[in-house]
Amino acid sequence: MDLLMILLMASSVAGTASGFKISRIVGPSVVVNGSVPLLVLDCQYDAARYDTRGLTVKWYLKNRMRYLVYQWIPNTAPQDLSILKGRVDLSYRASNHSQEVHRALAIQRPTIAHSGDYTCVVSTFHSDDLKTKRVIIYSPASDIYVTYSKPTVESVKVVCSASGVFPEPKLDVFRSAVNFKSVKMNTVSKSIFLNDSGTYNATVFAIVRDSDLQDETVFECRLSIPGTDYRLQENMIYYPG
Ligand SMILES: *[C@@H]1O[C@H](CO)[C@@H](O)[C@H](O)[C@H]1NC(C)=O
Ligand SMILES: *[C@@H]1O[C@H](CO)[C@@H](O)[C@H](O)[C@H]1NC(C)=O
Ligand SMILES: *[C@@H]1O[C@H](CO)[C@@H](O)[C@H](O)[C@H]1NC(C)=O
Ligand SMILES: *[C@@H]1O[C@H](CO)[C@@H](O)[C@H](O)[C@H]1NC(C)=O
Repeated sequence: MDLLMILLMASSVAGTASGFKISRIVGPSVVVNGSVPLLVLDCQYDAARYDTRGLTVKWYLKNRMRYLVYQWIPNTAPQDLSILKGRVDLSYRASNHSQEVHRALAIQRPTIAHSGDYTCVVSTFHSDDLKTKRVIIYSPASDIYVTYSKPTVESVKVVCSASGVFPEPKLDVFRSAVNFKSVKMNTVSKSIFLNDSGTYNATVFAIVRDSDLQDETVFECRLSIPGTDYRLQENMIYYPG
């Protein structure tokens, strides 16, 4: 073999082996707890374009900790691990290509415990790549209510509480009156994480002087879960003085 031939072969091997690329992770970003039978995250790559010797697909989930939850080596059975053990549909086929068939993570009946950042790592003997996708699995509030108390005769303390929510919600209090725009109030908020249910109880309060209010004031408590379209509002009418 002459030198040119060797160089050509070397560069063609390098050309196919280098830069293995995952094109994207395909799957939903927001899911309601208990609403879907199967959540599929497909780690898409085009195996035909690369030297796939030594191919391994691994999925990690990071929420409170980082877990290796799935791994697959072509021509062996895929494995589910740690917090997804027994939860993955191991027969799910993302593709019919032997180097792609079990690259997807198919989670059965996902719950809030499976919310987090999913990372797919694909490695071969020559190179590797990874991609991450955030999946929020949320639980709507089971309850929300607004109440008030009178810390002094001239003031009012508005308290809004919500329970059974995941992940941690954002609570805002607004006040409005006929012919007046809603005004966002300065609030103090606190959330507690309930370890048993994995959800949050959240409370927010605001204090205002009666003399700063109209005769009939509506206090609006607005709850939202960041990263989702989920909104919930509860109102209360207050008559100062
Ligand atoms: C989430 O859904 C599961 C399955 O439907 C249910 O058992 C669980 O109570 C739900 N959790 C919350 C916080 O709603
Ligand atoms: C695999 O091949 C079967 C039979 O040709 C086809 O029905 C199926 O849709 C293919 N699956 C995928 C994921 O492409
Ligand atoms: C959370 O909120 C629920 C409903 O209001 C209540 O029953 C429960 O006691 C609260 N838990 C804690 C720890 O505050
Ligand atoms: C939370 O609950 C889990 C089991 O439900 C338990 O293993 C863990 O120790 C608890 N953590 C705390 C801080 O109580």
